[in-house]
Amino acid sequence: MNRIDLAGRVALVTGGAQGIGLAIAERLLRSGAAVTVWDANEARLTKAGKVLTRLGPCETATVDVTDPRAVEASIAALVETRDTLHILVNNAGIMGKVAPTLDQSDADWTTAVDVLLHGTFWCSRAALPPMLAAGWGRIVNIASISGKEGTPNMPAYSAAKAGVIGLTKSMGRELGESGISVNCITPAAIETDLIRNTSPEHHKYMLSNIPMGRFGQVEEIASLAAWLCSEDCSYTTGGVFDASGARSSY
Ligand SMILES: NC(=O)c1ccc[n+]([C@@H]2O[C@H](COP(=O)([O-])OP(=O)(O)OC[C@H]3O[C@@H](n4cnc5c(N)ncnc54)[C@H](O)[C@@H]3O)[C@@H](O)[C@H]2O)c1
Repeated sequence: MNRIDLAGRVALVTGGAQGIGLAIAERLLRSGAAVTVWDANEARLTKAGKVLTRLGPCETATVDVTDPRAVEASIAALVETRDTLHILVNNAGIMGKVAPTLDQSDADWTTAVDVLLHGTFWCSRAALPPMLAAGWGRIVNIASISGKEGTPNMPAYSAAKAGVIGLTKSMGRELGESGISVNCITPAAIETDLIRNTSPEHHKYMLSNIPMGRFGQVEEIASLAAWLCSEDCSYTTGGVFDASGARSSY
């Protein structure tokens, strides 16, 4: 592991109780940041918190990113405790229903878009005031290659992730002179429960699309995220970073 120096930085990772978010929280803690982890799943978060607090200053809070008022209140509480907020990693996510468009109900659509796109916006908007006050900030959105390619039978997921890419570009340009960068990562298939819980057919389909012939590891996303959260990422904003084993060639 290369060393990235985040000493003195205050970070928030959403959906950090497991998978990619947990790996990012670990990497930020190992890099010296104070990290707050949110998740909607209280039991899993408690378990993760026990591991993470051994690595550095870490707090956890049960927060549902689809609730804008809860997001605002929880960021206010974080800033009250840590005095500031420098880094936000918008990672919380669900896959949504995998089915043809005609079989997607109103709730299937809105549930996925609420978590993936609205949640990212609520958290980013609420994180801006402390970042603007600090004159420095890093927002890293975990989007998906589905937002570039459009995955069949995942219309809400694909559309929401495309929305996250657009939001990243818009905020990156808007905040160009602010000291705050906004970038996103577009992973293909990373070995987490989100992938493990899909049907064997979908699993096979995903693997067949990856020229490197393997799924990515959560540490590989955490490594890219840590760099995007660092001082070294100083002239890059509004960017879309591929992590797909060459599945995405554009
Ligand atoms: N695993 C992959 O292959 C892959 C590929 C591309 C993008 N992604 C994206 O990476 C992110 C993390 O995925 P993962 O594979 O680690 O998934 P995961 O299911 O392992 O973890 C997601 C976490 O988000 C939490 N969460 C869900 N809804 C929430 C809400 N409303 N509020 C707060 N927390 C909530 C869950 O409880 C869970 O702990 C997601 O945004 C996902 O879309 C994953």
